[in-house]
Parts: sequence; structure tokens; C-alpha cells
Amino acid sequence: MKSLSFRTALVALLACGLIAACASPALADDAAATYKSKCTMCHGPDGKGTAVGTKMGAHDFASPEVKAETDAQLTDVITKGKGKMPAYSGKLKDTEIKDLVTYIRGLAK
Ligand code: HEC
Repeated sequence: MKSLSFRTALVALLACGLIAACASPALADDAAATYKSKCTMCHGPDGKGTAVGTKMGAHDFASPEVKAETDAQLTDVITKGKGKMPAYSGKLKDTEIKDLVTYIRGLAK
């Protein structure tokens, strides 16, 4: 009996490790997919802004202006919208918006 519970614990431990190992890349993929489907038409795949987006006033995510903004400010713009930037509160979960901010920071490198 003792060995059985040990094996169960080991299996549980392995499963947890596997989930933890898979969870973070899956999140990044989600943010990339969301960005691609909802944001590229204005911000471009590289975050520099499409012709349409920049005409509306979107800035290059790698520009000093955007880099100077805090994560909280970027989260705010995505959540509540700003100028021609649509608000995504209610359309995206808070966690999805948080992942998008991280993704945008990655584009700005
Ligand atoms: C219809 C075009 C459009 C779409 C779609 C759009 N944006 Fe924007 N976004 C803008 C514009 C225009 C601004 C500039 C707003 C301002 O400063 O007046 C902006 C601003 C931003 C900013 C602040 C930095 C900046 O450029 O001033 C962030 C961050 C941002 N958008 C993220 C996103 C994300 C993430 C998505 C997808 C979920 C998205 N946007 C979808 C047009 C768009």
C-alpha cells in the first residue's frame, strides 16, 4: 500500500510539473493569437503601426513615448480605449490584457 501511494504522489507531481512547463508558452501563444486577430490591423505585426493605425494616431510600440508609459498606463489604454483606440474591457479578460501588455513590450525590443 505504501508503494502505491508513493507512486500516486509521483504521478501527481509529474503531472503538475508538466502542466507548469506547458502553461507559460501556451499563454504567450494566446497573446500572440489575440494580438494577431484583434490588434494587427492597426498596430501591425511588429507593433510599428499600419498605415491605417498611424493615421488614427497609434504610436510605434518601440517609440520612446510608448516605452516611457508604465504597464498600468498601457493596460488602461487597452481596457478603456483612447482616441480612436477601441476599448477592450468586457471583450478581453484582465489576464488577457495583461498578457498583451507583456507581448507588446516584447515587440518593442
Ligand atoms: C481601430 C484601430 C486599433 C485597433 C484595432 C487597436 N488599436 Fe491600439 N491604438 C489605436 C490608436 C489610434 C492608438 C492611439 C490612441 C491615442 O493616443 O490617441 C492606440 C493606442 C494603443 C496603445 C497605447 C500606445 C500608443 O500607441 O499610444 C496600446 C498599448 C494599444 N493601442 C494596444 C492595442 C491592443 C493590445 C490592441 C488589440 C487588443 C489594439 N491596440 C487594437 C488603434 C487601434
